[in-house]
Amino acid sequence: MTPTHFTFTARYETDTERLGQALARLLPPGSVVALHGALGAGKTRLVQALATACGVERREVVSPTFVLVHEYLGDRPIYHIDACRLRDEDEFLALGADEYFGVPNLVLIEWAERVARCLPSERLEITIEIGDGDARQFKVEARGQKYAEVVENLRKEFA
Ligand SMILES: Nc1ncnc2c1ncn2[C@@H]1O[C@H](COP(=O)(O)OP(=O)(O)OP(=O)(O)O)[C@@H](O)[C@H]1O
Ligand SMILES: [Mg+2]
Repeated sequence: MTPTHFTFTARYETDTERLGQALARLLPPGSVVALHGALGAGKTRLVQALATACGVERREVVSPTFVLVHEYLGDRPIYHIDACRLRDEDEFLALGADEYFGVPNLVLIEWAERVARCLPSERLEITIEIGDGDARQFKVEARGQKYAEVVENLRKEFA
């Protein structure tokens, strides 16, 4: 299947917030989102927007520092993982990573390239590039039909 892309430029943080809100609405239960981008790109910020749109208190959503996996209970269980803090893929598997993937969970992984081998082949890939000031470019790529629909709907919404 041809990969489907959607590119979104956020000029301000509020645009990132809107993208997170749209994703919260469009991602079906059991979705996996792999996040990429440099330090300070906005991966955690996007997770914050997504999770709060799912009914989680914003202050609950922080970088996973002391625990490797954060669980938030919103309108569905959300698992927020920062692979940057994992030693390697084996540590990720030892955490029971596989058990997170599945309906109705929403799994969001920062620095996902570090655990690429452990991820389901069907997922949404989001790469964030830092622009001038608060500008950020989000490249959203679908892997699999379910996510192709998400990308199509994002395209319609932000056209
Ligand atoms: N358009 C924007 N979208 C997202 N964040 C923005 C934007 N403009 C400014 N910011 C700021 O950029 C920072 C992004 O930090 P964040 O913790 O989300 O980065 P990160 O990608 O998770 O980095 P790390 O790899 O260290 O976890 C925040 O301080 C946020 O306020
Ligand atoms: Mg982060």
